Amino acid sequence: MPCQSYSITSCYPGLSKRFLLKEKQAMKNKERITMSIKVAAILIFVILSNILVGASLPGSGDTRLNEQWQEFSQKYNVNRFGDDGYFVRAIRHGHGLFYKTYDFAWRFTRKTAQSENNNCGSCHTPEEIAYSFASSDRYDNKLGKRISFEERIMRCYVSKLDGFVPTIYDPAIRDIRIFARLVAHDLKITEGSLVGPLAE
Ligand code: HEC
Repeated sequence: MPCQSYSITSCYPGLSKRFLLKEKQAMKNKERITMSIKVAAILIFVILSNILVGASLPGSGDTRLNEQWQEFSQKYNVNRFGDDGYFVRAIRHGHGLFYKTYDFAWRFTRKTAQSENNNCGSCHTPEEIAYSFASSDRYDNKLGKRISFEERIMRCYVSKLDGFVPTIYDPAIRDIRIFARLVAHDLKITEGSLVGPLAE
């Protein structure tokens, strides 16, 4: 007949209380160790994924591009909009798209780092794009319709960059618009400008 008692020591008199306490302590320690291993594994995962994601972001670690950005932001007084923030980040992304299209907009071009003319900057200057921005959204006589700035960029993605058409809402278009707008603002050629050649 099996032992009915709830107290294990009375069923197995050979087991001392001290021995059981020791066993319990050992089990607790084991749990603690597995818990610490789990926490450490999660921590390592979080830290590694942060580092790896950072390293695979377009443009990261590209010192030439970073230098170019510093020159650009000084030339066009980007910091008048603050050191950081959504607008400045969008301009910076636009800058990356403009000079490193094959990396920042890899989904919309078949050109690679080795290809010729693989970025907007190999055919255009920021000033040109700014003028194009300010004079966009006009009726095109040849095409018989109004062409937006975004549509002009789409065209270049397809034909000049041998790629695909991003939607009008895609950051690959939107941030080039913001980039162009910033330059146009600095050149005082945007509509509604109160100072500059057009206001005189
Ligand atoms: C291989 C050279 C080349 C590349 C690369 C290129 N473009 Fe162009 N782009 C042109 C040429 C040539 C024109 C004018 C003729 C045309 O529209 O086909 C033009 C026209 C434009 C226009 C319209 C200009 C106007 O008439 O107002 C915009 C805006 C523009 N490109 C933006 C871009 C952007 C943004 C990129 C990068 C995503 C880019 N282009 C990449 C050559 C290029």
